Amino acid sequence: MDFRTIIAKRREGMVHSKEELTFLAEGAAKGDIPDYQLSAWLMAAYLKPLTDQETVDLTIAMADSGDRLDLTGVPKPWIDKHSTGGVGDKTTLVLGPLLAACGLSVIKMSGRGLGITGGTVDKLKSIPGFSTDLTPKKMVAQAKKIGIAVAGQTAHLAPADKALYGLRDVTETVTSLPLIVSSILSKKIAGGADTVILDVKCGSGSFNPTREQAEKLADALVAIGKLAGLKAYAAITDMDQPLGSSIGNALEVKEAIDVLTKPESELSPNTKRFRELCRYYAALALRVSGIAPTAGEALTRIEDTLQSGRALDKANQWIKAQGATVDFNETSWLPVAPVQIELHAKMAGCIGKVDARTIGEIALDLGAGRHEKDDEIDLSVGIVLNVKVGDLISENHLLATVHAATPEAGATAITRLEHAILIQTTPIPPRPILIRPA
Ligand code: URA
Repeated sequence: MDFRTIIAKRREGMVHSKEELTFLAEGAAKGDIPDYQLSAWLMAAYLKPLTDQETVDLTIAMADSGDRLDLTGVPKPWIDKHSTGGVGDKTTLVLGPLLAACGLSVIKMSGRGLGITGGTVDKLKSIPGFSTDLTPKKMVAQAKKIGIAVAGQTAHLAPADKALYGLRDVTETVTSLPLIVSSILSKKIAGGADTVILDVKCGSGSFNPTREQAEKLADALVAIGKLAGLKAYAAITDMDQPLGSSIGNALEVKEAIDVLTKPESELSPNTKRFRELCRYYAALALRVSGIAPTAGEALTRIEDTLQSGRALDKANQWIKAQGATVDFNETSWLPVAPVQIELHAKMAGCIGKVDARTIGEIALDLGAGRHEKDDEIDLSVGIVLNVKVGDLISENHLLATVHAATPEAGATAITRLEHAILIQTTPIPPRPILIRPA
């Protein structure tokens, strides 16, 4: 097959055959098709979007471009959860052990941070000894034994996506809907998933600034997932303000541990909002996997699993199984930034905006994320928010604390943070965490 013909067909908006898309995925994975030809095809696919059937065929071809995880023998029901990425999103750290403690097998491949959106793999690096470098064999063995395994992406699963994603990033073609959908779902299929819960983020701190964009992505993920043989469920949740109180790797691990160890009444209002999101997705997972027939029963089971300490025990089992030399019963081992600076309100009023994008950028610049793909991250730095949209505050109220490596970096972050948190005189309602249920 001559790849020039495939580029020309895309350019003219003609429909690709399954064989052509398989040729493309295999060629991208093996490095047989040069980057300049793949880039030309990507731009053509951006301008003439793939049809649903083409997207399914590309998804499956990319999933088959490397190994597929064989989960035979792992107790069912299986669940995989994926977030489209946001600021302060540490959901996997709570949801994973919580669902495993409820009897599901959670097998998940997680990514590193991408731009302002953090990655679970980076957060987990804050746990001394913890390794996300699991072989497929170890992943399956661990899931069989304790019901949960979370690994970083390996080069063996969906290598075509790795090649195409790198090129999309530098050719301004990341935001093509069919390309996003096939990228996300191919990795889920290669990871052996049968049921996937998708958290589609909406707002300034996500890939989907508008509700319309988030709805299109959620609908496409579910529709293409079904056509590709997955049971896929997508809800849309708020990412206009950061999730929970903490942004930054070790700070987020601390917040997740708080949810696993403390009663809800002892959590900060921002962390309660994060807990609410975890409860929603946990209940959805229990319902769709048949473990709890109704939402009410699912929620009772979730609260019982959290409050009894079973979710915490499972979290400790999980991190030990992946090499941790500490546990979640206390947190003195977490790295702490040398500088902490508080930001207080200059006036009384109502919190009108806590801009997720700007706060994600500030955390990135403090060192919590990477500007270049090989940058070292600082696990200890970040921001702890003490307010959320709709809060009524008095003058001098603590708005946030910046955790920084140096006083200069902290001072710069505080100046920028002042502009990211808007105080207004007219009250506005809080932002619901759930925008559209699955
Ligand atoms: N996440 C992915 O894995 N792929 C995309 O294309 C976008 C987000």
